[in-house]
Amino acid sequence: MRTIRERIDVSLPAHHALVRDDILTGLCAWPKRLPCRLLYDARGAELFERICTVAEYYPTRDELDLLVTHLPDIAAALGSHGRVIEPGSGAGIKTRMLLAALESPAQYVPIDVSGEQLATTARDLREAFPTLDVRPLHGDYTQPLVLPPSPPGTRFTLAFFPGSTLGNFEPAEASAFLTRLRMLTGDRGALVLGTDSNQDPRSLVAAYDDADGVTAAFDLNVLAHVNRIREATFEPSSFVHRAVWDAAHHRVEMQLVSTRSQRVTVAGEQFELVAGEPIVTEHCYKHTPPVIADMLVRAGWQVVSVYIGRDERMRLWLAIAA
Ligand code: TRP
Repeated sequence: MRTIRERIDVSLPAHHALVRDDILTGLCAWPKRLPCRLLYDARGAELFERICTVAEYYPTRDELDLLVTHLPDIAAALGSHGRVIEPGSGAGIKTRMLLAALESPAQYVPIDVSGEQLATTARDLREAFPTLDVRPLHGDYTQPLVLPPSPPGTRFTLAFFPGSTLGNFEPAEASAFLTRLRMLTGDRGALVLGTDSNQDPRSLVAAYDDADGVTAAFDLNVLAHVNRIREATFEPSSFVHRAVWDAAHHRVEMQLVSTRSQRVTVAGEQFELVAGEPIVTEHCYKHTPPVIADMLVRAGWQVVSVYIGRDERMRLWLAIAA
């Protein structure tokens, strides 16, 4: 098994391309990692929909309760003729609730890396809101983006980022992302952010490793995805999903644990795993409220209201450009 360092020393253009491949880079690291975006192929998206309905996965349920209760308040605070941008497009229930609550929304801009997903979102939302100007933006929301022009009379731009997805960024990236949203939405910008601050290991581990194995299937699907796109030889049946609460880092770690010692080929490179060795696929940070408030303020946001959900786990943050 060659290491990344040895491959860098070869210094041929083709090898550089390999070194830059984050799948191979991650598998050379310790602990091994696979990029979390591999969770979301068509099957992954389907499984994630199911996760949102499993009994142990409280974030969706608690956030929906918060939206039902507080959207009227949020909409009143924001006023009319705002446009909504949503990184990671959703034609789902949360987006519809927000658009229905807002008075005369000016435009809806779903942002997604999947063109197919965007097209579906746009079609569904145009059907549900026939007078709404829906302008899909095809792009990676972790990279700089340019928004379409807003219709005349637009009063503000609201970024909607529910689902505790902020916790899936590493902390420095979460801060950078909030700063980017502040830039993107401008001086008449607003933000509705959904976060999870649960610190209880039992309910967290249950939420990320449910009894029916839906989350396990979602996580294991990463291996099938790598097999398909990098001619890899992972045997999903030789791995088990595990969710580990890391209290020191305030995060749940998603791991695929090798059940035996094995050798895997990925894009022509060989990797060895010992029995019990994990591959980390995702971090779900559960920052405490003061940490989130601090991130928002540093990113140029002023917190207007914080709505606290059941058992003080989920929160909705309403912020405006400071
Ligand atoms: N944003 C979701 C969360 O952090 C994503 C998610 C739910 C997830 N279940 C998962 C990611 C399991 C990886 C594995 O709650």
